[in-house]
Amino acid sequence: MSLLQKIENIWTQIYGNEHDEMLHSFVAELQNFKQTHAIGPLPQEWYREVTVYSLYVDLFNHNFQGLEDKLDYLQELGVSCLWLLPILDSPGRDAGFDIKDYRKIRPDLLSHQPQDEVFDRFLQRAHEKGIRVIFDIAINHVSEEHPWFAEARKSKDNAYRNYFHWSPTDKKYEDARIIFYGIEESNWKKEGDEYFFHRFFDFQPDLNYENPQVFVEMTRNLMYWMSKGVDGFRADAIPYLWKEEGTACENHPNTHRIVKLFRAAVDFIRPNTLLLAEACQQPVEVVKYFGDGDECHAGYHFPLMPQLYKALELQSAEPIVHTLSQSITPNIPEGSQWFTFLRCHDELSLELVYVTEEDRKYIHDHYCKNPEWNFRLGQGISARFAELMDNNVDKIALMYSIMLSLPGTPVVYYGDEFGKQNDHNFYKEQIQLTGKDDTRFLVRGRIDWEQLEKELAQPESLSYQVYHRLSRMLKIRSQYPLFGRGDIQWMNTQKKQLLMYQRSLENEKILVVQNLSNQSVVLEQSSAQWSILTGHNYEFNNQLSLNAYGFVWAILK
Ligand code: GLC
Repeated sequence: MSLLQKIENIWTQIYGNEHDEMLHSFVAELQNFKQTHAIGPLPQEWYREVTVYSLYVDLFNHNFQGLEDKLDYLQELGVSCLWLLPILDSPGRDAGFDIKDYRKIRPDLLSHQPQDEVFDRFLQRAHEKGIRVIFDIAINHVSEEHPWFAEARKSKDNAYRNYFHWSPTDKKYEDARIIFYGIEESNWKKEGDEYFFHRFFDFQPDLNYENPQVFVEMTRNLMYWMSKGVDGFRADAIPYLWKEEGTACENHPNTHRIVKLFRAAVDFIRPNTLLLAEACQQPVEVVKYFGDGDECHAGYHFPLMPQLYKALELQSAEPIVHTLSQSITPNIPEGSQWFTFLRCHDELSLELVYVTEEDRKYIHDHYCKNPEWNFRLGQGISARFAELMDNNVDKIALMYSIMLSLPGTPVVYYGDEFGKQNDHNFYKEQIQLTGKDDTRFLVRGRIDWEQLEKELAQPESLSYQVYHRLSRMLKIRSQYPLFGRGDIQWMNTQKKQLLMYQRSLENEKILVVQNLSNQSVVLEQSSAQWSILTGHNYEFNNQLSLNAYGFVWAILK
């Protein structure tokens, strides 16, 4: 079946035949667009071989020019894909996830130059350095300042009214949980004599995908950016697209159909443009966003992340091995990929959707070291990675070793490569600006490059030590495609504090041994065939001893 036929079929499954005219003109538009733009495909599965670095353009280094100036820094660090946190025009009350114009970049990021010039040049420079670029696009909701909502709120008969969900009461979709628990009290906000639905902040009205025009418009936005040459999109808050009374309004079958439609359109215009699912859900639910290889190409492994922290605190490999076992993490379709992370721009999320109450409490009790870090009343911790690790370089390096050597595409959050600390001043500043007490702003401060450069010249500084350990691992990783594409074989050492596995692809094999405890441990297995690639806190002379939090990566001769 051709992609266009697929679009027609799925569209009809969702919308019936009522909007056939719109469907036909949409299909014609796709064909036209493809012909006019003729954008060559991206390499297949490129996202399985990269290391991602996520950043806010303004907080990282002021604007696109500033980011361009730091491409050498990023290349030197060893990353090969940038995930730009929201860059589109926005009042910035949810750090840009409240978009008011999907084709326009925020003016402050452009230093008074024309958008096309700045962005095209930036993309070209990044691509010349072998760095791919994806960015965030919120498809579930818009800013209340978006022109569609500005129109829709005017009157009940406004042509844009139906782009959003309205109700005469706030009692509809009562089974939909409140995601920003403790910050928002309802999923409805009064506007005139009706209420509109919002799954996140009350300034982010949810789009109504029951109206196919919404899907068409959003696809046009993706097409626009594909024509500019972006390598992919992070599909923010993807599980919530379709609402239905009597359901949790999450992971609805029609949400999956809409995702399939987006994917087919993206594949038609430019194959291998990445769609990355942001679905804070159990792996069994997240794998559904890979479809049969016809939804998203990749998805974050949300449940793994907190288990890495639990394993470290418990000094036991079990939570990691268990989470990645088939019983929790089902296989994903050929060519798909998990994205893994230690920290991101959000809190260390402990949503009960994928963490047990017991684990939530355990992780929160051990890692929420300051009441200010609490997010969503115990369902998350807002803190920078280094602070969660008590600024202990050994722990930091060990956690990076785990993330970088397990299956998946790893994501490094800007600043965490040098042990950036929480930014209390930035948090306070943002509370003032946004009017919401959102502790996630603690982890979103600006980089002080002058200071950083000084620290990176001092071998005894935390920044230097973290940066060099991470950078070494990133570079090794980039030389071995087996990390991104290979299999994993777990090795049982009979010592619960040891996390050991073999990664392999074709004839190449790398062994990884990691000590999750604060005590030395000796590995009794023979290691005569090993050639050590990197490691930390270890002694090796035909037998391996790992000191506290030590690890090695070894290639099998
Ligand atoms: C995603 C983003 C988060 C944002 C939310 C609403 O979860 O990661 O930062 O607040 O969507 O857009």
